[in-house]
Amino acid sequence: MRITKRLLAWYDQNRRLLPWRAGPGERADPYRVWLSEIMLQQTTVATVKPYFCAFLRKWPTITDLARAPRDEVLTAWAGLGYYARAHNLHKCAQIIVAKKDATFPTDAKMLQKLPGIGHYTAAAISAIAFDQRAVAVDSNVERLITRLFALTESASVARSRVIHIMAEILTPNCRCGDFIQAAMDLGAILCTPRKPSCRLCPLHVDCAGYQKGIAESLRLVGKQSRERKTRHGIAFFAVCQGGAILLCRRPQKGLLGGMMGIPSTPWRTAPWELEDAVRAAVPFLSWSWKLLPGSVKHIFTHFQLNLRVAYGHGIFHPAKKCTWVTPDAIDTQPLPSVMRKALMHASDAIRAHKI
Ligand code: ADE
Repeated sequence: MRITKRLLAWYDQNRRLLPWRAGPGERADPYRVWLSEIMLQQTTVATVKPYFCAFLRKWPTITDLARAPRDEVLTAWAGLGYYARAHNLHKCAQIIVAKKDATFPTDAKMLQKLPGIGHYTAAAISAIAFDQRAVAVDSNVERLITRLFALTESASVARSRVIHIMAEILTPNCRCGDFIQAAMDLGAILCTPRKPSCRLCPLHVDCAGYQKGIAESLRLVGKQSRERKTRHGIAFFAVCQGGAILLCRRPQKGLLGGMMGIPSTPWRTAPWELEDAVRAAVPFLSWSWKLLPGSVKHIFTHFQLNLRVAYGHGIFHPAKKCTWVTPDAIDTQPLPSVMRKALMHASDAIRAHKI
């Protein structure tokens, strides 16, 4: 295909240097490819880079990662979000290391049987790490094909079927991994959602969107920007006499599953009264609680959280699924971003208002 050839030639001259990527002519490292693809699910390249490098420093091989305590993996993942990925990553490493040859399967169908590896990720790993012919359609490829063939069809099922067929046709029999990465790079560098650099694009002569002058407007077909509802919660910053802070493990299933945090009410549409919140979140601590001024705002995929924080201090009290952690050991805990924000908010408010 002329388009594929042009894209690969452009990639040879313009590929991005990414820490998980093999250099030109080098063999890809399946561990790096897998780790990066899991991290890159729903997360940008810029966010992933420092996490990826930190993981590799800490666990240079998949065996090191498989042997790490689960909480260390969760702590290293803290801030990346979608924490089921970290649980699955660890499980997957253990499955691979338990195999006789301790290697990843090369085939997308087999890869898909492993925890955390869905259809897209299996195709991407199979192509990038093993140069198998596999079709991986991410949002970059979707945009690229939508523009190349000026797909104005707004019904997203029909459009996505056409995109898959076109991706299948464009995918070469060799240099499959390079093809996928070339499409990603083109989407990130030139065929960007806003203000695409069509004149610099190696495919503009083939691009129906460009020829018709509608390339930029073809970025959002079928995608509506969502409006996030607000949910409310109250979290409890409980400090016992020695200065230790109460942390609880969140349930394995659900949002921030298996991570640690200060105890909180469920997050619901209606704001909470403090009294109800105490009953819902810390019924075992009969302390007096003071609602701190201000609140923590945090964006999740489907809603925006408005989290108020209540402060209390009293004598040590053991509680199921909770631990008291001294402030100097807080950083060793797997705390998601929203919980780090809540802790910062509490200590800032207590200091500022001399509470
Ligand atoms: N997004 C998903 N996988 C990627 C990769 N390997 N390189 C850059 N962006 C990506």
